[in-house]
Amino acid sequence: MGNLFPYVYDFGMKPLEKGRFYTIRKELLSKVKGRVLEIGSGSGINFPFYRNLERVDAIEPNPSMIKKSRKQLEKASVPIFCHEQKAEQLLFPNQTFDYVVSTLVFCTIPNPEAALKEIIRVSKPNATFYFFEHVKMENAGLAKTQDLLTPLWKKICDGCHLNRNTIEIIKNAGLQIKEIKYYYKGLFIMVECTI
Ligand SMILES: C[S@@+](CC[C@H](N)C(=O)[O-])C[C@H]1O[C@@H](n2cnc3c(N)ncnc32)[C@H](O)[C@@H]1O
Repeated sequence: MGNLFPYVYDFGMKPLEKGRFYTIRKELLSKVKGRVLEIGSGSGINFPFYRNLERVDAIEPNPSMIKKSRKQLEKASVPIFCHEQKAEQLLFPNQTFDYVVSTLVFCTIPNPEAALKEIIRVSKPNATFYFFEHVKMENAGLAKTQDLLTPLWKKICDGCHLNRNTIEIIKNAGLQIKEIKYYYKGLFIMVECTI
């Protein structure tokens, strides 16, 4: 679904993006400063939100997504550089970034543990990582539904794991969680952690 997914995704997400997601992205992206790494920038939806920082390096493995993100680059008020890369194999030197951002990406990354190792490597000591992700829900019934839906969901949504326990993966990687905010009964979370 590589070439089609960027269009289907943006269309499907429109109602959420026009509502609460707009406020969440605005709040999250106003916090980052200095050198920023964005993981899985997709169609560049975050680009217009960045303000008053040195530069953003945005990595994204899908060339169709990168192509689509060019329109958003025109709306950006800070320097943003897009790179065709995977989070599991970042082509940046050690200790480059002050902040790392990922929004709705860790559900899709095939090897999130390897991605976190790379993020830790390229981040400066005490850098901050902000995640906005959907995760496995705490409610047992809803979590079970997520488990049942995931095989089909992965096929339709470009490899997205509806039931991924991203908080556990973050903790296991040794990141220090400073704050978790929950949205939509815990289906979506915003996490601030120190690397
Ligand atoms: C659901 S989209 C989210 C896009 C955007 N960040 C947003 O907030 O809407 C997930 C993105 O993760 C990207 N992705 C998939 N595997 C990845 C990987 N290994 N490393 C980095 N990004 C990846 C996909 O290509 C896609 O653009």
